Amino acid sequence: MTGPVRLSLAGGIAHVVIDNPPVNVTSEAVRAGLMQAFDTVEAQGADRVILTGAGKAFVAGADAREFSSAPRPPHLPDVVARIEAFPVPVVAAINGVALGGGLELALACHARVAAPSASLGLPEVTLGVVPGAGGTQRLPRLIGLGPALTMIAQGSSVSAGEALSLGLVDAVDEDVVAAAQTLPLPDRLPTGSLPAPLGDEAALAAARAGAARRMPGQVAPIRAIELVAAACHLPLNEGLAMERATFLALKTSDQAAALRHVFFAERAAMAQTRKGEGAEIASAVVVGGGTMGAAIAYALSSVGIAVAMVETDAAGIERAQGNVGRLHADAVSRGKMSAETAARRMAERYTWHVGYGDLPPADIAVEAVFEDLAVKAGVFAALDASLPEMTILATNTSYLDVDRLAGTVRAPERFIGLHFFSPAHVMKLLEVIRAQTTSPATLATAMRLAGRLGKIPVLAGVCDGFIGNRILTRYRQTCDIMLLEGALPWQVDAAMRGFGMAMGPYEVQDLSGLDIAYANRKRLGWRTKAGFRYVPIADRIVEETGRLGRKTGAGWYDYGGKAGRPAAIVERIVVEESARAGIARRAFADSEIVERATTAMIEEGWRILDEGIAATPSDIDLVLVHGYAFPRWRGGPMHYAQALGLETVRARIAAYADEDPLSWGVPAALDRAIERNTCGEAA
Ligand code: NAI
Repeated sequence: MTGPVRLSLAGGIAHVVIDNPPVNVTSEAVRAGLMQAFDTVEAQGADRVILTGAGKAFVAGADAREFSSAPRPPHLPDVVARIEAFPVPVVAAINGVALGGGLELALACHARVAAPSASLGLPEVTLGVVPGAGGTQRLPRLIGLGPALTMIAQGSSVSAGEALSLGLVDAVDEDVVAAAQTLPLPDRLPTGSLPAPLGDEAALAAARAGAARRMPGQVAPIRAIELVAAACHLPLNEGLAMERATFLALKTSDQAAALRHVFFAERAAMAQTRKGEGAEIASAVVVGGGTMGAAIAYALSSVGIAVAMVETDAAGIERAQGNVGRLHADAVSRGKMSAETAARRMAERYTWHVGYGDLPPADIAVEAVFEDLAVKAGVFAALDASLPEMTILATNTSYLDVDRLAGTVRAPERFIGLHFFSPAHVMKLLEVIRAQTTSPATLATAMRLAGRLGKIPVLAGVCDGFIGNRILTRYRQTCDIMLLEGALPWQVDAAMRGFGMAMGPYEVQDLSGLDIAYANRKRLGWRTKAGFRYVPIADRIVEETGRLGRKTGAGWYDYGGKAGRPAAIVERIVVEESARAGIARRAFADSEIVERATTAMIEEGWRILDEGIAATPSDIDLVLVHGYAFPRWRGGPMHYAQALGLETVRARIAAYADEDPLSWGVPAALDRAIERNTCGEAA
């Protein structure tokens, strides 16, 4: 047999090996190959069939290239049915990941052995669909309703050990194929013929509540829960039919399209980390051990990089050690690291330095000191004087001009921005800021480092706020103007949460502190900026009331207990500013708030593309989804714009520009995209 499924028959045992590198996805050729292999085994006769995967994976799921096309035969449910009804026992030798369709194949087998490194799961809901080849019906029959709900509704995987204790696999063994050959097989029913799982209303209610909390607004988890519930009372065939119909309907849904878009964007970003001739980083200097510096140091040390931490004085070092120590203690308390490992890392991977006199040579130096151009330039001058010329110099600035900083060092081709997001050891997004002078080699090394840190890197050019903070600034400014015209902060927050943002813009400011944005507005000179609609509300809150957000117990909201309450003083300032601007306040519908705020993000996104700050719309989507809690199931602002229709978006921007030409205008890149799309359709 040629093709991605190999068959060998010896001593009454048939080995069916799925060999479709890199991860044995269930492509059309694999499905056809499996059908053919089982036909051959049936014709030639065998006592037992072992189904396994070549290489490191069993089967990692469906073929992403087939995601958006109509399914082609043979369909996976038919392959699964063929295996389940096979006249001799089929044993799955799960040599590595068994995800999605891979686990569904294994569930159809009559017994399962897993390698200790295997992980098993049904992650379909994370792509906006449900399992489509029996997963929702067979898994609860095998392991019971509660555990199946957890795996299917959350899309979470279990380890081989967990799978064993759940009864999902019969044995765990280093040599899965040998174990599958000798595993005793008492008479047992195929998974699909096992009794229906016992219903459990409390477990279903908890799963629904969990889905609403973890994946709010998303349809697939709710549907998946309904399907698992149906397994309790529907005969297998009816349950399978309902599952297939749900799967096919969801596959073409807007949410699935958006989630697939983000999935592909992530893959493309991660592919950047493997391109070019990047050097391997073995040692780093981190300057500033505050919130960001400590977490960056922790992330670097976690992948084996030696870190030399620099602060200005002994007290700074003590604070930095406290910050880094706390991150290790957190990891220990969450069971991610043993206390011994934590202690050894602290002792062996870090050195602590007041100033630059005794710095060891390093491959990269990352600066995370106060957000002040002069302070940062001083740091780079000191680094330049103390480190070898080959050291890459990186700034973690949120807004400042990376080109100007690059211009102050002796090897500007080795200068780059690495804009981590807080908490830097957790957040996956990394904006990689290319200065005019940054060399391809420096960029490749930074990308390679990003890959090693497990980040999703997005390349950005130099402008105030790069991609993410620039769009954030525009979004907030647009919301502030709506306050002036009649909306209130709590209404804006609720509307944006209704759209799917994790938090509204004012809640976020209260969390991060009003002083940060205040300092930024000052730096940009908004109060006196010509050709710009300055809204004084936030500045007045800071200057007149000293309310800086949660850390001072009050900001846009009052915080007596935990939840924020609308603040009368904020409402008074808002209303006063409307009057001062001569604006008659009017009611805003939530939909109007959402439309204007999202359109502002989209318009700014097109400007960012116009200026070459971002390379692709998908990159902008990644930044907003991963850095700013834009709902993943809407695909990011640029995908959302595509889904709305670019013509519609353009018309909205044009209408806003008629009302407020200082704030709005149709970006040229949007017009070009519309032209391309129209031409594409005509061709
Ligand atoms: P932070 O105030 O927590 O930490 C700054 C640290 O730098 C302090 O420990 C301070 O002692 C030290 N420091 C100041 N001047 C120094 C100098 N000349 N030499 C050595 N150490 C010095 O500030 P945070 O939040 O960690 O921010 C640092 C940088 O990261 C800023 O540029 C900020 O814009 C950027 N950033 C912050 C994010 C955040 O969410 N906090 C997110 C992304 C970037």
